[in-house]
Amino acid sequence: MDVYEAVTSRRAVRGFTDRPVPIEALERVLAAAAWSPSGSNVQPWHSYVLTGAPLAELKKLAVERVAAGDPFDEREYQMYPPDLKTPYRQRRHDFAEQRYGALGISRHDLEARQRAAIANWDCFGAPAALFCYIDRDMGLPQWADVGMYLQTVMLLLRAEGLHSCPQMAWSTVRKTVAEILSPPEGLILFCGMSIGFEDVTVDYTRTGRAALAETVTFLPSEHRAGA
Ligand SMILES: Cc1cc2nc3c(=O)[nH]c(=O)nc-3n(C[C@H](O)[C@H](O)[C@H](O)COP(=O)(O)O)c2cc1C
Repeated sequence: MDVYEAVTSRRAVRGFTDRPVPIEALERVLAAAAWSPSGSNVQPWHSYVLTGAPLAELKKLAVERVAAGDPFDEREYQMYPPDLKTPYRQRRHDFAEQRYGALGISRHDLEARQRAAIANWDCFGAPAALFCYIDRDMGLPQWADVGMYLQTVMLLLRAEGLHSCPQMAWSTVRKTVAEILSPPEGLILFCGMSIGFEDVTVDYTRTGRAALAETVTFLPSEHRAGA
C-alpha cells in the first residue's frame, strides 16, 4: 500500500467485526514500527498486545466498571489543558458535534454520550488491542516519540488490511488495565488502541482538518504551490 493511501485511509474506526486478527500480522507491524525514530534512539515505548481471553476479561471488567458509574482513576497526565484556547477549543467542540451528531445524540444529552462512550472499553468490538506505556521519568520529547511510534503502528496496520482506534479513554481505567497486564512500577499508560477489521455497516462521519494555511507556514510564501 502506498504511504499516502495508508495515511488517508487511516481513521479512528469505531466499529470492528469479530474476525480474528492474525498474530503474525501484529508481529510484523510491531517489528517494523520498532524502526520509528526517537531522540537519541531511546525508544521510550512499552507496548502490550492483547487478544483472546485476556482481552475479553479486560473488556468485561472495564465495561462493568464504567457502566456501574465507578469513578475514573485519578489522572497521571493531563489529557487537555484546562483552559484549552481557540482554535483548539473550537476544533474539539466541532469534533464532539460531528461524532455525537453522527450517532443522533444531541450535545446536551450527556447520558446518551456516556452510553456511546462505553463502547471505548469494549474496544468497539475489536478482537485485538495494544496498550502503550511510557516511563514516568520521560519528558515531553519522549512523549512525542511515542506519538510517532503509535502513528507508525497505525499506518502499518493499514498495510495489513487492518484498522485501529487510538484511545486515551483507557487511561481513565488504568488500574483495571494494570490488573490484567501487571506492568512494572513506574510506567504510565498513555493510551490503548483497538485493532481489527472494520465493520463497514457502522456509519461514521469522516473528520475534517483545518485548512493547510492554518497550521503550516511556507517561507518564502510566494514559493508555496498555488500562491
Ligand atoms: C492520542 C489519541 C487518543 C485518542 N483517544 C480516543 C478515545 O479515547 N476514544 C475515541 O473514540 N477516539 C480517540 N481518539 C481518536 C480521535 O478522536 C481522532 O483521531 C480524531 O478525532 C481525528 O479523527 P480521525 O482519526 O478519524 O481522522 C484518539 C486519538 C489520539 C491520537
